[in-house]
Amino acid sequence: MSADVERPTANWRSLALVVAGIAITSAGHYFTPPEYRLWHGIFQRLYYIPVVYAAIAFGWLGGLAAGFTAALLYVPHILMTWSNEEHYAMEQYAEIFMFLAVGAVTGVLSDRERRRRAELQSTAQKLSQVYRELQDTFEQVKRADRLSAIGQLAAGLAHEIRNPLASIDGAAEVMEAAERPEEVLAETMSIVRKECARLNRLLTNLLDFARPRHPEWREVNVPRVLDSVIELVKHSAGKGIHFKRNTADRLPPLWADEEQIAQVILNLTINAAQAMPDGGEIELSAREMDDRVLIQVKDEGVGVAPEHIDKIFDPFFTTKDTGTGLGLSVVHQIVRQLGGTVSVARNETRGMTFSLFFPQTPGGSA
Ligand SMILES: Nc1ncnc2c1ncn2[C@@H]1O[C@H](COP(=O)(O)OP(=O)(O)O)[C@@H](O)[C@H]1O
Ligand SMILES: [Mg+2]
Repeated sequence: MSADVERPTANWRSLALVVAGIAITSAGHYFTPPEYRLWHGIFQRLYYIPVVYAAIAFGWLGGLAAGFTAALLYVPHILMTWSNEEHYAMEQYAEIFMFLAVGAVTGVLSDRERRRRAELQSTAQKLSQVYRELQDTFEQVKRADRLSAIGQLAAGLAHEIRNPLASIDGAAEVMEAAERPEEVLAETMSIVRKECARLNRLLTNLLDFARPRHPEWREVNVPRVLDSVIELVKHSAGKGIHFKRNTADRLPPLWADEEQIAQVILNLTINAAQAMPDGGEIELSAREMDDRVLIQVKDEGVGVAPEHIDKIFDPFFTTKDTGTGLGLSVVHQIVRQLGGTVSVARNETRGMTFSLFFPQTPGGSA
């Protein structure tokens, strides 16, 4: 992965500090009499500070340049002051070589550090972009799963819509015929009204679920959600399947988005119904457990094969000819977003129970 080395930009403050450091140190040399040898020793080493600083701030070229500048200013002083002390002078020249070496090495190291930091930054940026894209994808999957659930319900609903339509049609026929007693007309009208209301309820129920909207966090009315799920699924569920709702009188408050909770329970309930070709009972229950809300969907179906139990929450895992394999992975994602957990267990007699635990307080990151 190539990341642009964030070249030290013209940072005038750093440059001024380096120049000032070298100038002050050099002045120290020139203005301190030779007999203060200890001070000369100190000044000589003080050069390292601006050189190292330049290397850190401006990279290896900056380090070398500062080393050179220090050397250029220092050499005349050595020539002028220490030419008669050959050994001491040699030591000073060796130190100049060290300025350059330290400047270059520190510069190379700090360049490398800077490059690594830039790489890390760009990796972090890419990661957060991937995360955003994943979230978008999940939103799309959720929507697709919703539509697929609606599709699975549609056949049953079509039937359910045809019945009231037939009644209304029949009522119209009755009213068309001339000379109907008042009571008969009134009764027919009331049938029409009732059937219209039924259609209305059905469509509202379905549309409530199908219409995408922004998540709304509020206290979820769990019994109502369970009822509306049963209402939606019962039309498309096979003949021998009956539903039971079992909710405790008092439940801890569940803060979440009601539609998402509905989507989760709907997916579990559709799966339950699909696992029961020979009919049986599906029980939707809610109660308090360890201060948390526990919602369970229990079926009397064929159950999950032991070798599949680890895979059923994976996206696209399905054992059905026309399955998407997305239902349970959407369940898992939504529940996790709400800060809850989902688990599955085999029933003692037959079928499976899916359990959802939700925290009481607002939580998660939906
Ligand atoms: N209640 C259940 N009883 C038996 N098997 C189930 C149940 N729920 C889920 N499964 C299994 O898990 C698989 C994945 O379910 P899901 O993610 O909803 O995808 P799909 O329903 O499209 O197959 C199903 O194909 C089925 O094999
Ligand atoms: Mg499913």
